[in-house]
Amino acid sequence: MASNIVWHEATVQKKDYRQKNGHRSGVIWLTGLSGSGKSSIANTVNKRLYEKGINAYVLDGDNIRHGLNADLGFSPEDRKENIRRIGEVAKLFADSGTIVLTAFISPYQEDRDRVRNILPADEFLEVHVDCPLDECEVRDPKGLYKKARSGEIKGFTGIDSPYESPESPELTLHTGEWSEEECTEQVLHYLEEKGWI
Ligand code: ADX
Repeated sequence: MASNIVWHEATVQKKDYRQKNGHRSGVIWLTGLSGSGKSSIANTVNKRLYEKGINAYVLDGDNIRHGLNADLGFSPEDRKENIRRIGEVAKLFADSGTIVLTAFISPYQEDRDRVRNILPADEFLEVHVDCPLDECEVRDPKGLYKKARSGEIKGFTGIDSPYESPESPELTLHTGEWSEEECTEQVLHYLEEKGWI
């Protein structure tokens, strides 16, 4: 960390933004294999929240890798840095009173726990978007599993790079069995139950 830097307290604070918005803020962290449905669910939940007048936003793996994290690849170190940066950005969104949905494979428990630990306990929901690998492979929306199987892509999650399932997620969505609508309802119900919205 750089020296000679001093934290500056914000004049308008999280509690003020929350009061103005009329709802709580925090991070809904979707984790799961490529093709498991993270982005679709994040976007559908986001739309429903938007329609309710709630400040929400989606941070999506493929999109963030075009900009902020364009310098990162898929080695374990780069994935760790990818998740570290997203965690910090997500925390800023939560500080600004926003409910932020993140859609990243985030394959390592340690990296997800690090994000959990930079946030207050009631501002981080780990959601396992749990779809069997063979189903993701059948869907193969971007044709990447095919490339990974043929060796064209190396270190692909689930094929020749690990995915560590969450040890104790707040929510598990069985996207192999449940419809997108059912998964969306589950998330919204959870947010209502916990008093986020
Ligand atoms: S993470 O592992 O660092 O969390 P992230 O969610 O940002 O991954 O990006 C995953 C997306 O990048 C996948 O949905 C897929 O489209 C693409 N991708 C390209 N190469 C790989 C790879 N080797 N492993 C996983 N995903 C890859």
